[in-house]
Amino acid sequence: MTVHFIGAGPGAADLITLRGRDLIAACPVCLYAGSLVPEALLEHCPPGARIVNTAPLSLDEIMAEIEAAHVAGHDVARLHSGDLSVWSAMGEQLRRLRAMAIPYDVTPGVPSFAAAAAALGAELTLPGIAQSLVLTRTSGRASAMPEGETLANFAATGATLAIHLSVHVLERVVAELTPHYSPDCPVAVVWRATWPDQRVVKATLATLIEATGGERGRTALILVGPTLRTEDFDESCLYAGDYDRRFRPVGTDPRFPEGSE
Ligand SMILES: C[S@@+](CC[C@H](N)C(=O)[O-])C[C@H]1O[C@@H](n2cnc3c(N)ncnc32)[C@H](O)[C@@H]1O
Repeated sequence: MTVHFIGAGPGAADLITLRGRDLIAACPVCLYAGSLVPEALLEHCPPGARIVNTAPLSLDEIMAEIEAAHVAGHDVARLHSGDLSVWSAMGEQLRRLRAMAIPYDVTPGVPSFAAAAAALGAELTLPGIAQSLVLTRTSGRASAMPEGETLANFAATGATLAIHLSVHVLERVVAELTPHYSPDCPVAVVWRATWPDQRVVKATLATLIEATGGERGRTALILVGPTLRTEDFDESCLYAGDYDRRFRPVGTDPRFPEGSE
Protein backbone atom coordinates (compact mmCIF):
# COMPACT_ATOMS: atom_id res chain seq x y z
CA MET A 1 0.00 0.00 0.00
CA THR A 2 1.33 3.43 -0.96
CA VAL A 3 0.06 6.99 -0.63
CA HIS A 4 0.68 8.71 -3.97
CA PHE A 5 0.93 12.49 -3.58
CA ILE A 6 0.00 13.97 -6.96
CA GLY A 7 0.29 17.55 -8.17
CA ALA A 8 -3.10 18.20 -9.75
CA GLY A 9 -2.00 21.27 -11.72
CA PRO A 10 -3.37 24.82 -11.72
CA GLY A 11 -6.96 24.14 -12.77
CA ALA A 12 -7.42 22.90 -16.34
CA ALA A 13 -8.22 19.21 -16.10
CA ASP A 14 -5.76 18.30 -18.87
CA LEU A 15 -2.81 19.92 -17.09
CA ILE A 16 -1.97 16.86 -15.01
CA THR A 17 0.89 14.52 -15.85
CA LEU A 18 0.15 11.17 -17.49
CA ARG A 19 1.70 9.53 -14.42
CA GLY A 20 -0.63 11.45 -12.12
CA ARG A 21 -3.69 10.53 -14.18
CA ASP A 22 -2.71 6.84 -14.26
CA LEU A 23 -2.14 6.78 -10.51
CA ILE A 24 -5.59 8.26 -9.88
CA ALA A 25 -7.07 5.56 -12.12
CA ALA A 26 -5.24 2.83 -10.18
CA CYS A 27 -6.13 3.90 -6.64
CA PRO A 28 -9.29 2.72 -4.84
CA VAL A 29 -9.09 5.76 -2.55
CA CYS A 30 -8.76 9.41 -3.63
CA LEU A 31 -8.31 12.28 -1.19
CA TYR A 32 -8.41 15.68 -2.86
CA ALA A 33 -7.97 19.23 -1.61
CA GLY A 34 -11.31 20.41 -2.88
CA SER A 35 -10.77 24.16 -2.67
CA LEU A 36 -8.56 24.29 -5.78
CA VAL A 37 -8.36 20.80 -7.32
CA PRO A 38 -10.67 20.57 -10.36
CA GLU A 39 -13.46 18.05 -9.80
CA ALA A 40 -13.08 16.89 -13.43
CA LEU A 41 -9.92 15.05 -12.35
CA LEU A 42 -12.05 12.77 -10.19
CA GLU A 43 -13.49 11.26 -13.38
CA HIS A 44 -10.22 9.31 -13.61
CA CYS A 45 -11.02 7.46 -10.36
CA PRO A 46 -11.96 3.81 -10.82
CA PRO A 47 -15.63 2.83 -10.36
CA GLY A 48 -16.52 2.46 -6.70
CA ALA A 49 -13.52 4.46 -5.47
CA ARG A 50 -13.81 6.16 -2.10
CA ILE A 51 -13.48 9.87 -2.95
CA VAL A 52 -13.04 12.35 -0.09
CA ASN A 53 -12.81 16.13 -0.26
CA THR A 54 -10.30 17.01 2.45
CA ALA A 55 -11.00 20.78 2.41
CA PRO A 56 -13.21 20.58 5.53
CA LEU A 57 -11.05 17.99 7.35
CA SER A 58 -8.37 18.51 9.98
CA LEU A 59 -4.92 16.94 9.60
CA ASP A 60 -5.90 14.28 12.16
CA GLU A 61 -9.02 13.42 10.13
CA ILE A 62 -7.01 13.22 6.89
CA MET A 63 -4.48 10.91 8.54
CA ALA A 64 -7.34 8.74 9.85
CA GLU A 65 -8.57 8.32 6.24
CA ILE A 66 -5.07 7.30 5.14
CA GLU A 67 -4.64 4.93 8.06
CA ALA A 68 -7.94 3.21 7.26
CA ALA A 69 -6.83 2.75 3.65
CA HIS A 70 -3.50 1.41 4.90
CA VAL A 71 -5.24 -1.17 7.11
CA ALA A 72 -7.42 -2.21 4.14
CA GLY A 73 -4.38 -2.45 1.87
CA HIS A 74 -5.77 0.22 -0.49
CA ASP A 75 -3.48 2.60 -2.39
CA VAL A 76 -4.36 6.27 -1.98
CA ALA A 77 -4.21 9.06 -4.59
CA ARG A 78 -3.65 12.30 -2.64
CA LEU A 79 -4.33 15.34 -4.84
CA HIS A 80 -3.15 18.87 -4.14
CA SER A 81 -3.38 21.84 -6.48
CA GLY A 82 -0.47 22.93 -8.65
CA ASP A 83 2.79 21.34 -7.59
CA LEU A 84 3.43 19.82 -4.18
CA SER A 85 6.72 21.58 -3.50
CA VAL A 86 5.07 24.89 -2.57
CA TRP A 87 2.18 25.64 -0.17
CA SER A 88 0.66 22.18 -0.34
CA ALA A 89 0.86 21.14 3.33
CA MET A 90 2.47 17.95 2.02
CA GLY A 91 5.41 18.25 4.42
CA GLU A 92 3.34 17.73 7.56
CA GLN A 93 1.51 14.76 6.03
CA LEU A 94 4.78 13.11 4.98
CA ARG A 95 6.18 13.56 8.48
CA ARG A 96 3.15 11.75 9.94
CA LEU A 97 3.44 8.99 7.31
CA ARG A 98 7.12 8.46 8.13
CA ALA A 99 6.22 8.20 11.83
CA MET A 100 3.55 5.60 10.99
CA ALA A 101 5.86 3.74 8.54
CA ILE A 102 3.33 4.15 5.71
CA PRO A 103 5.01 4.24 2.26
CA TYR A 104 4.49 7.22 -0.05
CA ASP A 105 5.77 8.76 -3.26
CA VAL A 106 5.39 12.14 -4.96
CA THR A 107 4.42 13.00 -8.54
CA PRO A 108 4.99 16.65 -9.49
CA GLY A 109 2.39 18.91 -11.07
CA VAL A 110 2.25 22.16 -13.06
CA PRO A 111 2.60 24.99 -10.52
CA SER A 112 0.33 28.01 -10.70
CA PHE A 113 3.22 30.43 -11.29
CA ALA A 114 4.02 28.53 -14.52
CA ALA A 115 0.37 28.62 -15.56
CA ALA A 116 0.22 32.36 -14.91
CA ALA A 117 3.43 32.98 -16.86
CA ALA A 118 1.98 30.96 -19.74
CA ALA A 119 -1.19 33.05 -19.67
CA LEU A 120 1.02 36.12 -20.03
CA GLY A 121 3.27 34.53 -22.67
CA ALA A 122 6.17 35.60 -20.48
CA GLU A 123 9.65 34.21 -19.86
CA LEU A 124 10.38 35.26 -16.29
CA THR A 125 14.16 35.03 -16.67
CA LEU A 126 15.52 37.17 -19.49
CA PRO A 127 19.26 37.56 -20.17
CA GLY A 128 20.64 40.69 -18.54
CA ILE A 129 17.26 41.65 -17.00
CA ALA A 130 16.49 39.06 -14.32
CA GLN A 131 17.93 35.60 -13.81
CA SER A 132 16.05 34.74 -10.63
CA LEU A 133 12.44 34.10 -9.82
CA VAL A 134 11.23 34.39 -6.22
CA LEU A 135 8.14 32.40 -5.28
CA THR A 136 6.78 34.13 -2.23
CA ARG A 137 3.69 35.30 -0.37
CA THR A 138 2.69 37.77 2.29
CA SER A 139 1.82 36.67 5.81
CA GLY A 140 -1.60 35.20 6.37
CA ARG A 141 -3.69 34.11 9.30
CA ALA A 142 -2.34 30.55 9.17
CA SER A 143 1.29 31.34 8.30
CA ALA A 144 3.44 34.23 9.45
CA MET A 145 6.41 35.14 7.25
CA PRO A 146 9.83 34.34 8.71
CA GLU A 147 11.84 37.44 9.58
CA GLY A 148 13.83 38.63 6.58
CA GLU A 149 11.46 37.18 3.98
CA THR A 150 9.90 40.55 3.26
CA LEU A 151 8.68 41.77 -0.11
CA ALA A 152 11.06 44.71 0.29
CA ASN A 153 14.05 42.41 0.71
CA PHE A 154 13.16 40.33 -2.32
CA ALA A 155 12.29 43.40 -4.38
CA ALA A 156 15.68 44.94 -3.58
CA THR A 157 17.29 42.18 -5.69
CA GLY A 158 15.36 43.21 -8.82
CA ALA A 159 14.39 39.59 -9.43
CA THR A 160 11.02 38.65 -10.88
CA LEU A 161 8.55 37.99 -8.07
CA ALA A 162 5.62 35.57 -8.18
CA ILE A 163 3.53 36.56 -5.18
CA HIS A 164 1.00 33.97 -4.04
CA LEU A 165 -1.87 34.16 -1.56
CA SER A 166 -1.77 37.96 -1.51
CA VAL A 167 -4.21 39.50 -3.97
CA HIS A 168 -6.52 40.46 -1.07
CA VAL A 169 -3.77 42.83 0.16
CA LEU A 170 -2.90 44.19 -3.28
CA GLU A 171 -2.66 47.81 -2.10
CA ARG A 172 -0.05 46.85 0.51
CA VAL A 173 1.89 44.75 -2.00
CA VAL A 174 2.04 47.63 -4.47
CA ALA A 175 3.09 50.09 -1.74
CA GLU A 176 5.93 47.82 -0.57
CA LEU A 177 7.24 47.09 -4.07
CA THR A 178 7.09 50.57 -5.60
CA PRO A 179 10.15 52.05 -3.84
CA HIS A 180 12.29 49.19 -5.17
CA TYR A 181 11.00 48.77 -8.71
CA SER A 182 10.06 52.00 -10.47
CA PRO A 183 6.37 53.04 -10.59
CA ASP A 184 6.36 52.14 -14.30
CA CYS A 185 7.59 48.60 -13.58
CA PRO A 186 5.30 46.06 -15.27
CA VAL A 187 3.07 43.96 -13.07
CA ALA A 188 0.29 41.48 -13.83
CA VAL A 189 -2.42 39.77 -11.85
CA VAL A 190 -3.65 36.43 -13.16
CA TRP A 191 -6.80 35.09 -11.54
CA ARG A 192 -7.56 31.36 -11.82
CA ALA A 193 -4.98 30.68 -14.52
CA THR A 194 -6.16 27.93 -16.92
CA TRP A 195 -9.68 27.74 -15.41
CA PRO A 196 -12.52 28.69 -17.80
CA ASP A 197 -12.94 32.02 -15.94
CA GLN A 198 -9.25 32.97 -16.05
CA ARG A 199 -8.75 36.74 -15.92
CA VAL A 200 -5.56 38.71 -16.63
CA VAL A 201 -4.81 42.34 -15.82
CA LYS A 202 -1.54 43.83 -17.05
CA ALA A 203 -0.48 47.22 -15.73
CA THR A 204 2.36 49.06 -14.04
CA LEU A 205 2.85 49.41 -10.32
CA ALA A 206 1.47 52.93 -10.68
CA THR A 207 -1.70 51.87 -12.52
CA LEU A 208 -2.45 48.39 -11.13
CA ILE A 209 -4.94 49.30 -8.42
CA GLU A 210 -7.09 51.27 -10.83
CA ALA A 211 -6.71 48.64 -13.56
CA THR A 212 -7.96 45.82 -11.34
CA GLY A 213 -11.08 47.84 -10.61
CA GLY A 214 -11.40 46.67 -7.03
CA GLU A 215 -11.70 42.98 -7.95
CA ARG A 216 -9.83 40.85 -5.44
CA GLY A 217 -11.05 37.21 -5.42
CA ARG A 218 -8.52 35.02 -3.65
CA THR A 219 -7.08 32.66 -6.26
CA ALA A 220 -4.65 34.86 -8.12
CA LEU A 221 -0.97 35.38 -8.67
CA ILE A 222 0.79 38.73 -8.76
CA LEU A 223 3.81 38.72 -11.07
CA VAL A 224 6.11 41.71 -11.03
CA GLY A 225 9.43 42.66 -12.57
CA PRO A 226 10.92 44.16 -15.74
CA THR A 227 10.94 40.80 -17.54
CA LEU A 228 7.18 41.12 -17.97
CA ARG A 229 7.28 43.76 -20.66
CA THR A 230 10.71 44.68 -21.92
CA GLU A 231 11.76 44.11 -25.51
CA ASP A 232 15.23 45.37 -24.61
CA PHE A 233 17.21 42.30 -23.58
CA ASP A 234 20.15 40.29 -24.93
CA GLU A 235 19.59 37.11 -26.89
CA SER A 236 20.92 34.09 -25.01
CA CYS A 237 24.43 32.97 -26.00
CA LEU A 238 23.20 29.40 -26.17
CA TYR A 239 21.59 29.82 -29.57
CA ALA A 240 24.04 32.38 -31.00
CA GLY A 241 25.45 31.16 -34.33
CA ASP A 242 29.08 31.51 -33.14
CA TYR A 243 28.63 29.95 -29.69
CA ASP A 244 30.60 26.71 -29.42
CA ARG A 245 28.72 24.13 -27.38
CA ARG A 246 28.51 20.39 -26.91
CA PHE A 247 25.46 19.96 -29.10
CA ARG A 248 26.65 22.33 -31.86
CA PRO A 249 30.46 22.38 -32.21
CA VAL A 250 31.58 25.59 -33.96
CA GLY A 251 34.96 26.81 -35.31
CA THR A 252 38.27 25.11 -36.09
CA ASP A 253 38.98 24.12 -32.48
CA PRO A 254 35.65 23.26 -30.79
CA ARG A 255 35.66 22.50 -27.06
CA PHE A 256 33.55 19.41 -27.70
CA PRO A 257 34.60 17.95 -31.11
CA GLU A 258 32.02 15.68 -32.73
CA GLY A 259 32.20 12.18 -31.28
CA SER A 260 33.65 13.35 -27.94
CA GLU A 261 31.90 12.24 -24.75
C1 LIG B 1 -2.23 27.10 -1.25
S1 LIG B 1 -1.45 27.87 -2.59
C2 LIG B 1 -1.19 26.50 -3.64
C3 LIG B 1 -0.03 26.67 -4.58
C4 LIG B 1 0.17 25.45 -5.46
N1 LIG B 1 0.71 24.32 -4.72
C5 LIG B 1 1.03 25.75 -6.68
O1 LIG B 1 1.87 24.90 -7.05
O2 LIG B 1 0.86 26.78 -7.30
C6 LIG B 1 -2.77 28.73 -3.34
C7 LIG B 1 -2.30 29.99 -4.03
O3 LIG B 1 -1.66 29.67 -5.24
C8 LIG B 1 -2.03 30.56 -6.25
N2 LIG B 1 -2.81 29.83 -7.27
C9 LIG B 1 -3.17 28.53 -7.24
N3 LIG B 1 -3.82 28.18 -8.38
C10 LIG B 1 -3.86 29.30 -9.13
C11 LIG B 1 -4.36 29.60 -10.43
N4 LIG B 1 -4.95 28.66 -11.17
N5 LIG B 1 -4.21 30.85 -10.91
C12 LIG B 1 -3.60 31.82 -10.17
N6 LIG B 1 -3.09 31.59 -8.94
C13 LIG B 1 -3.22 30.35 -8.43
C14 LIG B 1 -2.86 31.66 -5.60
O4 LIG B 1 -1.96 32.67 -5.17
C15 LIG B 1 -3.45 30.91 -4.44
O5 LIG B 1 -3.80 31.81 -3.40
